[in-house]
Parts: sequence; structure tokens; C-alpha cells
Amino acid sequence: MKVGIDKIGFYAPNTYIDLIDLAKERGVDPNKFLIGIGQERQTVVPLSQDVVSMAANAATSIFSESDRDTIDMILFGTETGVDNSKSAAIYLQQLLGLRKNVRTVELKQACYGATAGVLLARDYVTVHPDRKVLVIGSDIARYGLKTAGEVTQGGGAVAMIISAEPSILVLEAETSHISEDIMDFWRPINRREALVDGKYSTNVYLDFFQTAFESYKKQTDRELSDFDAMTFHLPFTKMGLKGLRTVLNQVDENKQKQLMTEFENSRVYNKQIGNLYTGSLYLSLLSLLSETKLDAGSRIGLFSYGSGAEGEFYSGILQEAYKRQLNPEQMAHWLDNRTRLTISEYETIFNQSLPADNGDFETDINKDDGVFVFAGIKDKKRIYRKK
Ligand code: COA
Repeated sequence: MKVGIDKIGFYAPNTYIDLIDLAKERGVDPNKFLIGIGQERQTVVPLSQDVVSMAANAATSIFSESDRDTIDMILFGTETGVDNSKSAAIYLQQLLGLRKNVRTVELKQACYGATAGVLLARDYVTVHPDRKVLVIGSDIARYGLKTAGEVTQGGGAVAMIISAEPSILVLEAETSHISEDIMDFWRPINRREALVDGKYSTNVYLDFFQTAFESYKKQTDRELSDFDAMTFHLPFTKMGLKGLRTVLNQVDENKQKQLMTEFENSRVYNKQIGNLYTGSLYLSLLSLLSETKLDAGSRIGLFSYGSGAEGEFYSGILQEAYKRQLNPEQMAHWLDNRTRLTISEYETIFNQSLPADNGDFETDINKDDGVFVFAGIKDKKRIYRKK
């Protein structure tokens, strides 16, 4: 039986900064950000959106009534959780109007959480082929104003429905994973901004990719030449390019060209939106699916990396109907019509925070474009609204 990604949807707030503006303000050559980092624009997340409301907005864009009746489980990958106890998934169950007999769990391992969700969902659906799982990757990436990581911020959510006989991507059985307790990027419980050793993290990412990919090749007897596209976790898009370059010499020139073309397709959206943490790999997959002309039957590689650190390489086969559920024209229109903030406006939004004592607070939902918004705090409880 075939199991995999049946639907994929995305949401990010419609406010952004242009990284040329940021470069000028920070006294940096813009080409460092555009070429050296591989990013052009960055989403700015207002207080009226959090990982729950963004996930609800992403999920609602792909939901049908039949999904509502057949979803058995929500696996919510995030490293920007809104409560130390209650999972973000249970808020989502209520916002989306799902049945009560749905399992709701939050998964955390830095940017790897959504991949854990996809692969656990695949195993569940393999045992229960008439059921579906909603997998979320939703995060707000914050490194701090005027830090080296500032250019790799962003935010947004990806929602995927995993089912039997999926429309988009059938997941192949073999995967290769690797984990090691290291401190390349982390966020102590009382901090909103990540701590990161960016150069070290880059080296571990590349090492994990090569190790996981070699192990996958041994398990499957497949080679890089068996792939039509390789996708990567993209905290910034140059990162995936560095990964791909470590293996490109394994194939001939034509294949190299093809893999580079598809890599460019896979980073169109990420360049414009920025870092989604755990959603980044799946935004890249969505970008590839929307931009590519690959035929059904093509094999896609997926490399997931979550600092701390865990890496996994797996693969899937494109299905006949994969273009039908996508709407690249709508996405292009949305990307072109977002609100460009000045650096000063972005800094003001970045510095806004909820009351430290969880006192009553209302966010400004009037300018928010989301169907679902985080309206504030009342009696120490988070309040979500559908507009
Ligand atoms: N034109 C073109 N490229 C330029 C340039 C210019 N004018 N100036 C610099 N560059 C290039 C550098 O050569 C370098 O390229 P390379 O990585 O291929 O060598 C790149 O731009 C970045 O420059 P660097 O000086 O190394 O950047 P930095 O010290 O400002 O830090 C990161 C960059 C990515 C390490 C930093 O933004 C970061 O830590 N981000 C967070 C990453 C993360 O979260 N990792 C964990 C999850 S995977």
C-alpha cells in the first residue's frame, strides 16, 4: 500500500522586510544577504499571530469535509510552543472543529519536529489505511536585532495531510537518521531568541547530511543519479546549496544541471519568506512542487535537520495528481502583494511582547490578514478568534 503526502498548505503573515533595506541599515553589502546567505525577503510575524493561529490558517487552506471526518491525529511540530504543558495541537483541534476522538500531540526537536510528524504519521496510516493524520510545522524564527542570525529569521506554518494513496508524494520505506547531543543552536526556556553557533551548526548539518545520505544509499542500493530533485532543510537557502554541492560530484554533468535547476525551484519561496524552522523543508518541497516541471514517478530526496542535533534523509515518489492541489499563481500574487515594512517598523514589532505576568492583553487584530488570529490573553488563557 502507498502512503504519503496527500495535501500540503502554507500560511505566513503578509508583512515582510526587504533584506536590501536591512543590509543598508546594518551597514552590510546587500550581496552578502542576497548571495552569501541566499535570502531576499523576511516575514515579520506580528503579535496577533502565533504558531497555533498560523497552523490553523495553513490547515484551513487545504481542508475538506471528508478530511475532517477521517483525521485521527494531529502531530504538531514546533520549537515555538505557546505553553509548557498544553500542546499546540489541542488548540488546533478545537479551532478546526475536529472530532473529540483525535489524538493531539506536540513534537519538539528543533527544526526536525515536522519530519518526526510526517514519518510517525506514515507508520500510523500504514496500519490504519482508511485514516488520515494532520502534520504541522509552525514556528517563529528569532535570533535578535543586529545579530549575525538576524538575516535568517522568519516565520510561518506548513500543514500536510498524510493518507493512503496520496495525491502528491508516496513516501518510500527506507530512511536514514542520525542524532547526537550537541550545542549548535538552542533556546533556554526563558528566552524568546535562539542561541546559536552558526558556523558549527553549518558544519554539523553538512556532516549529518553526508552521513545520512551515504547510509541511505547503502540501505537502498540507490545512487544520487536515481534522484530527480533533492530538497533540504533551509534555515537560509545557501545552506541547502552547500549540502547539495557536497554530493554533486557523484553524478555526470547533465544530472548536475538537473539537480541544480530543481534546487533553484525548491528555494524560490524560502528566499522570499525566510526561516520557518521546522516548516522550512516542507516550504521548500512546496516551492519545488509549484515551480518544477518534473513528471509523475520522479524521485525526490528530503534532508531534514534539527539542531541539537538530529538529521534524517528520506525519499518519495511524485504522483500523477501532484499539480492539482497546488496554486502557484495564487502564491505568486500573495508574495507580490504583501506589505513591505521599514526596518524601523520591523524593529518596533520585533520588540513587542506579551505581558511577562500573563496579565490580560489584547493584540491588534484589525490589520491581521489571517482567518485565525491570536487575540490576546484573558484570565491567563490564550484567546484565539476566527475572523
Ligand atoms: N557578496 C557575496 N557573498 C558574501 C559577501 C558579499 N559581499 N560577503 C560575505 N559573503 C558570504 C560569505 O563568503 C559566506 O559564504 P560561505 O558561507 O559560502 O562561506 C556567507 O556570505 C556568510 O558570511 P559569514 O561572514 O560567514 O556570515 P555571518 O558570520 O554573518 O553568519 C550565519 C552567517 C548563517 C552563520 C548566521 O546568519 C547564523 O548563525 N544564522 C543562523 C543559522 C542557524 O540557525 N543554524 C542552525 C539551524 S540549521
